[in-house]
Amino acid sequence: MEIKVMPAGESERRPKPKDESKLVFGTVFSDHMFIMNYDEGRGWHDARIVPYQNLSLDPAAMVLHYGQGIFEGLKAYRASDGRILLFRPEKNWERFNKSARRMCMPEIDPAVLMQSLEALLRLDADWVPRSRGTSLYIRPTMFATEPALGVRPAKQYVYYVITGPVGPYYPEGFNPVKIYVSDEYVRAVRGGVGEAKTMGNYAASLYAAEIAKKKGYTQVLWLDAVERRYVEEVGTMNIFFRIEDTLVTPPLTGSILPGVTRESVIHLARHWGIKVEERPITIDEVIERAKDGSLKECFGTGTAAVISPVSELCYKEERVTIADGSVGEWSRKLYDELVGIQYGEKEDIFGWVR
Ligand code: COI
Repeated sequence: MEIKVMPAGESERRPKPKDESKLVFGTVFSDHMFIMNYDEGRGWHDARIVPYQNLSLDPAAMVLHYGQGIFEGLKAYRASDGRILLFRPEKNWERFNKSARRMCMPEIDPAVLMQSLEALLRLDADWVPRSRGTSLYIRPTMFATEPALGVRPAKQYVYYVITGPVGPYYPEGFNPVKIYVSDEYVRAVRGGVGEAKTMGNYAASLYAAEIAKKKGYTQVLWLDAVERRYVEEVGTMNIFFRIEDTLVTPPLTGSILPGVTRESVIHLARHWGIKVEERPITIDEVIERAKDGSLKECFGTGTAAVISPVSELCYKEERVTIADGSVGEWSRKLYDELVGIQYGEKEDIFGWVR
């Protein structure tokens, strides 16, 4: 695919953050963006890299009314020798196209997705930060642009990629977070769109997350929508429990997002000889095991935070501390290994890094 490149002029360049230690998540964006358009019958066309800029949309653009929009999240890491590394990007492309199918949107050839990202990263290579714990967050996005108000799949779309240097997702960093179990509001239902990375899932999560924040918790632990018994996700992340010497995580049954970090943790843990169970786990079991001490660790996994240890759960207004509330051994080990691979410091035994 031919990509037209229109580099930013001097006046279009954006200020680069001077102090990388002050980077937060998702507020600063790099000089350029990749963008292309889709029309039914014509397919994807006009692939171009342009200075980061506003989009112009018809007020009837279907995404604004019916929410046909999907995205991905991945990171570029700066290795100590200066190389720029991506972690399993093909998993993101696979999930992107799966989300597209679920939302009746056009797919994009993974080779095109990869080529366009590489071209963008070459141009904005200097935006990949250098200090440990920072990276360049990459946000591929697609949504329906066709101006029409009938409820049906749109015939026109835009796909674009923006990037920006980021620090930790949670201000807590790798420090344990406190989680509020929501037994009233749910994130997704089996048969719904929970396993697609579609915009509305995140909008649907806000109300309960605000309630949790008001009560002093960082995020929500989501239960299944039917029985409000089975654990599903935590915040925007997948969830893992270490019960004695077994790692337990809920199975992918349709309402849970298939996380790249989730899959990597399972793979790595099994490689280390740890028993991993993908099985339904009830909130009652979690609370019981936290109380009897057999729940040794709990953590969320996601691209943004990698591993986010959980120290405390609040369920039905009862607070339960997990182990002694500090970062567990496996959480630390998994974090160190994954981050080490991502920054090119640890041996890439599974061929995950590009
Ligand atoms: C994650 O990487 O954990 C996410 O879900 C990304 C988030 C910023 C939407």
